[in-house]
Amino acid sequence: MQYDFDTVVDRRGTNSLKWAVGGEELPMWVADMDFLVAPEIQRAITQRAAHGIFGYTEVPGDWYRAISSWWAQRHGLQIPREWILYCTGVVPAISSAIRKLTTPGEKVLVQTPVFNIFYNCIRNNGRQVVENRLVYDGGRYHIDFADLQQKLADPQTTMMLLCNPHNPIGKIWDRTELEEIGALCRRHHVLVLADEIHCDLTDPGQNYTPFAAVSNDCRQNSITCVAPTKTFNLAGLQTSAVLVPSGALRHRVERALGTDEIAEPNTFAITAAVAAYTSGGPWLEALRSYLYQNKQAAAAYLKKELPQVQVVPSTATYLLWLDCRQVRGSGADLADHLRQKTGLYLSGGAQFGGGSEQFLRMNIACPRAQLYAGLQRLKRGVLAYETWWSEQF
Ligand SMILES: Cc1ncc(COP(=O)(O)O)c(C=O)c1O
Repeated sequence: MQYDFDTVVDRRGTNSLKWAVGGEELPMWVADMDFLVAPEIQRAITQRAAHGIFGYTEVPGDWYRAISSWWAQRHGLQIPREWILYCTGVVPAISSAIRKLTTPGEKVLVQTPVFNIFYNCIRNNGRQVVENRLVYDGGRYHIDFADLQQKLADPQTTMMLLCNPHNPIGKIWDRTELEEIGALCRRHHVLVLADEIHCDLTDPGQNYTPFAAVSNDCRQNSITCVAPTKTFNLAGLQTSAVLVPSGALRHRVERALGTDEIAEPNTFAITAAVAAYTSGGPWLEALRSYLYQNKQAAAAYLKKELPQVQVVPSTATYLLWLDCRQVRGSGADLADHLRQKTGLYLSGGAQFGGGSEQFLRMNIACPRAQLYAGLQRLKRGVLAYETWWSEQF
């Protein structure tokens, strides 16, 4: 079946967070997609809505089966039903785990630059952020394992948030890297929380390795958060699954999610998740291919039209991580400047930490015509910024 990713759908007036912007603005920041969901999902939700009663909902066997079979078929991980806990979102699960499995004042390690909300989850709960800065060699990022080891060895470091694939750099961590992380964390008694929400959005032919699939150390000392919300564009339905192989740990996580009251499902979330994981595969394949073409188109455009902005090579996510260090005067004010001068709303790199003030994150999960409109604004805005900067200094 052919799926249409080219038609521009007007999202204004739908309470979209992304599109709560001025009439002339073009938002390419927060990570949701400007595509209609798979027709199979829309049908299932419409059918459920037609029933007309939306009382308290239980988590049905179909939901567990849908998750297990998706991971077995696509990611080679066998997930027994008892590992799986329902949660209303990945961020709520992370915050809950931090609150219940660490104590105030302890340190939670993140690899920066990273998804900005991780900082909130840690700091808003009275814990400290400890940073294992990813090393950027001008083309690629890699892990500084000596630094990681040193920080994990601090007895005050009790949890590590792993982002796999990693937002914003779009990197899929390989088995060797994950194994080393798993061994180090085990040795230093640091619990790993693996956020794998972007795992299905890899380039065609690229697969991610689930942290829990790597080794017994990884399995027994980890909590993995997954969700259909990024993959299938369902973020507004607020749903996720938390996988905990260790029985003892699972009991504590189950209590955490329960006492934080984030374990009760929304009727439509269940319907959508089951439809997505049972019949969304073909749509996802078409989407991955479209996103890959978008990525190629953006890279080609920038190389030709705006070579001072470089796309950091990635193999996952629909988020382009743009290295703007060659832009004259480039600083943390570039994103604001672009928005003010052209209406293009990107995420400024500074919010992701790790010294990323000269980077931008651009969400390219949109129809190609919209992507080109964004790229043209980016070109116009960057050139205007350089001129403005030159006139100042
Ligand atoms: C790494 C990562 N984790 C979690 C989330 C959000 O998860 P949820 O909407 O389930 O809270 C995002 C959204 O951008 C993300 O990039």
